[in-house]
Amino acid sequence: PDNPVLDALAAHRLVPVVVVDGADEGARLADALVAGGLPVAEITLRLAGGLDAIRAVAKNQPDVVIGAGTVTTVAQVDDVVEAGARYIVSPGLSTAVVRRAQEHGVPVLPGVATPSEIMAALDLGVDVVKLFPASVVGGPAAIKAFSAPFPGLRFVPTGGVSAANLGDYLGLEPVLAVGGSWMVDRKLVTAGDWDGITSRTRDAVALAAQ
Ligand code: 3PG
Repeated sequence: PDNPVLDALAAHRLVPVVVVDGADEGARLADALVAGGLPVAEITLRLAGGLDAIRAVAKNQPDVVIGAGTVTTVAQVDDVVEAGARYIVSPGLSTAVVRRAQEHGVPVLPGVATPSEIMAALDLGVDVVKLFPASVVGGPAAIKAFSAPFPGLRFVPTGGVSAANLGDYLGLEPVLAVGGSWMVDRKLVTAGDWDGITSRTRDAVALAAQ
């Protein structure tokens, strides 16, 4: 991909998918990830305070490659761009969502699970997709099969990725990065276990470097 934000995701190889609520949680989460050596986060819109969390990190921690996840509507695209998200991730492929993100000049990773969805993404000019839910649609074998007819397409497999299997994905050439929630289990956030998040993050970064 020819984009500095996607280049940053490709360099870090890991995209923590995060459920946080509000500016304070967002800031603490970002600090915990940075301490673990991974200045990247995809903050989802699953809780009402997700947007404020994105805004806080974008404003106060500009070194963190902050993105928005679970973006499913055009209005949410506008909201997260206004809040400062530098990339947008969606569980599926919505033409309207992709076009709006492109109008804003913000990279968008639509979710795909089939060759038809891949073709729709390519038609829209997208060359990096989220394979979702990666483990359900066939895992690494699916990426090998999907990439044969679509050379040049890059995948960010997400869904069921963990410390136990991330190497199986990262070893594949079409895989730009992997995404997942295992580094930032919501239970660790609600318990305020920021050290636990840092520790899991550090472990994942070490695995990804192998
Ligand atoms: C997502 O929205 O990308 C998924 O919830 C992440 O999947 P995981 O929880 O299996 O890592």
